[in-house]
Amino acid sequence: MTVLVLYATIEGHTRKIAEHAAARLEAAGQAVFLGDIREPGFAVPGRFDGVLICAPIHIGRYPSPVAQFVTEWKDALAQVPTALVSVSLAIHSDSAEERAEAEAYPAKLEKKTGFHIPKVHHAAGALKFLEYDFFKRALMRRIAAKEGGPVDTSRDHEFTDWQALDAFVQEFADDVALARRA
Ligand SMILES: Cc1cc2nc3c(=O)[nH]c(=O)nc-3n(C[C@H](O)[C@H](O)[C@H](O)COP(=O)(O)O)c2cc1C
Repeated sequence: MTVLVLYATIEGHTRKIAEHAAARLEAAGQAVFLGDIREPGFAVPGRFDGVLICAPIHIGRYPSPVAQFVTEWKDALAQVPTALVSVSLAIHSDSAEERAEAEAYPAKLEKKTGFHIPKVHHAAGALKFLEYDFFKRALMRRIAAKEGGPVDTSRDHEFTDWQALDAFVQEFADDVALARRA
């Protein structure tokens, strides 16, 4: 059987994270199905022996297809190791208050869906100035300036700690292998 890796994304960085996680899972010996959470297609969670969801925070919440998917499939998700990679910029902040806010997003998703996510990794996202339209670029530059972040809008800025992500994905792969043997 296979591990299902699903992602939601607005500007593409969480897809990059999901692709990276999928490659890491494959390197750990898992077969992987990677898909967009809006179009999981035949990827019915009950047919997989592990599910990894990667989702970004935009204006204080995950894109709505994430809660929709978790709500619809929570019974199947409860049967296999399930994990969430929560992507945000606040988790990268120097302010403990901002980081605490980022750390609280998975609990909000749990409250909304009634599903407890057993394993969560917080990954710092990216400022994709080259992808944003004029207004979004101005908004994100203002937020970055306030936070002491980068304001060079001539390029994108990536904050993800890929090694920390790899360690989390390896733990998840071990959980899947263990559950499969049980
Ligand atoms: C319009 C907008 C709103 C955002 N709102 C938040 C937010 O409320 N909290 C946060 O921590 N990050 C926020 N971010 C940062 C995103 O989580 C980060 O850029 C992430 O890498 C986006 O992932 P994606 O490229 O997969 O959409 C926001 C980004 C944008 C562009």
